[in-house]
Amino acid sequence: MADIRPAEVTTILKREIEGYGKRLEWKSVGRVLQVGDGVARVYGLEGCMMSELLKFPNDVFGLALSLEEDNVGVVLLGSDTLVKEGDSVESLGRVISVPTGDALLGRVVDALGRPLDGKGPIRTTEADLRSIEGRSPSVVERQPVKEPLQTGIKAIDSMIPIGRGQRELLIGDRQTGKTAILLDAILNQKSTGGGDPENPSQVLCIYVATGQKQSTVVDVVSRLERHGAMAYSIVVSAPAGAEAAMQFISPYAGCSMGERFRDEGRHVLIVYDDLYKQAVAYRQVMLLLRRPPGREAFPGDIFNLHSRLLERAAKLAEDAPKMNPRFVKGGGSLTALPVVETQEGDYAAYIPTNVISITDGQIYLEPDLFNAGVRPAVNVGISVSRVGGNAQIPAMKKVAGGLRINLAQYRELKAFAQFGSDLDKATLAQITRGQRLEELLKQGQFAPMPVEEQVMAIYAGTKGFLDDLPIEKVRPFAEKLLAFLRSSRAEIGKTIRETKKLDPETEKKLDEAVAEAKTAFLAGRLG
Ligand SMILES: Nc1ncnc2c1ncn2[C@@H]1O[C@H](COP(=O)(O)OP(=O)(O)O)[C@@H](O)[C@H]1O
Ligand SMILES: [Mg+2]
Repeated sequence: MADIRPAEVTTILKREIEGYGKRLEWKSVGRVLQVGDGVARVYGLEGCMMSELLKFPNDVFGLALSLEEDNVGVVLLGSDTLVKEGDSVESLGRVISVPTGDALLGRVVDALGRPLDGKGPIRTTEADLRSIEGRSPSVVERQPVKEPLQTGIKAIDSMIPIGRGQRELLIGDRQTGKTAILLDAILNQKSTGGGDPENPSQVLCIYVATGQKQSTVVDVVSRLERHGAMAYSIVVSAPAGAEAAMQFISPYAGCSMGERFRDEGRHVLIVYDDLYKQAVAYRQVMLLLRRPPGREAFPGDIFNLHSRLLERAAKLAEDAPKMNPRFVKGGGSLTALPVVETQEGDYAAYIPTNVISITDGQIYLEPDLFNAGVRPAVNVGISVSRVGGNAQIPAMKKVAGGLRINLAQYRELKAFAQFGSDLDKATLAQITRGQRLEELLKQGQFAPMPVEEQVMAIYAGTKGFLDDLPIEKVRPFAEKLLAFLRSSRAEIGKTIRETKKLDPETEKKLDEAVAEAKTAFLAGRLG
């Protein structure tokens, strides 16, 4: 008989007992009571959390959105035809998470971070998963915006400047150029790091397409690819054809991907296109879950949902990691440009007023301007940026000072002038100037402009160099002027770019250069 050594037995037993706890896995399992219309009611999941991820058979996942006394209302993130009554439902014990990190750059993913672009699996690990519900940084963990987020769009960078960490709403009816602005803002970020995603100063971009037509998403991706912007971008796609729940969570998923970069000290621009459609998706699932409808039939908590999302945009304090170890490095930023599509210009509807009150400013786009050829169709009279001015470079501040008021007054006077009444000289001068500034600020798509060129062009306008040009000559002249400055007076642009200022000496040079270019232009000798 073999020796029984009690000491050894005790050791083995102890080891087994110690290891036991580690292998213990807690699992809560429920049963489907009812399923249909993309939602399910599940019985027996007592400890279920809000927004918890639930696993149904056939690899269908669900999101717990309505916790009731004896059952849980779940929206399905896959087809409801794969789920039947009586199926078992497993709780995964965590809020929905998505993969994050550099591996996602250049990819098109769904709202769960699964690839949609056929470029193979995305190499992330368990450690890269982040809950889609991020806690927004507290006041002390933030700092005020101080760096510009250049969109490359003259009308915006000069009059409604956006700072890194800001939340600026783009609002307007359909077909007013909202998506076009987002795209140009993304393309312009190429200039921040040459499009190299690993360059620490590259502003990384996330385009969240919620409830868009599939063709729009395809178009956006191919544009980004064609302009070399995909390398530093992620597209989160939850198009109109996706399940309502996927549309609903898509902004949070994109935001978590952005937060990862922000918390590592990097800079991110995230655009939500658009939050109205996301709210409609949420309304749809909540009505199916029989949540009592509120104003315009939207569930009452939609305000809270939008504000929680937008609070996550921030410029982190330099010493944020000292205050909270979850920040790897301070100084990073997440800038959010949410879009809200209005119906027939109704800015006073529920979702627009909510998001207006949550953001740091709004850019209003108007169909009338758009159709009159004023593109981007920004209504400068009512558009504002409450914090971005702090981030504007001094040279731009200097030249663009009177621009906004000039244009706003001009658009008011224009209506008046149509009656052909006798106008005094001052009014006429205002109209002349306004017309030219309006021309000057028109900008085609996919042509974002570096800030120093914007400064030089606007300088020509606000200094009156364009006043005696016929309107139709304003844009051709501005183009040729910039080409001339680029090729023959490169030092002016360089100084502005590097010092960010328009010092008196450079201003004098610019003044002379513009005058020279104008003389040449009028004589037909420019460019
Ligand atoms: N600055 C612009 N110059 C010329 N065309 C533009 C400009 N902005 C938008 N467009 C065109 O107008 C149409 C509507 O723009 P889009 O951005 O899709 O509008 P929205 O997103 O508001 O529905 C598109 O065909 C787009 O190419
Ligand atoms: Mg659009």
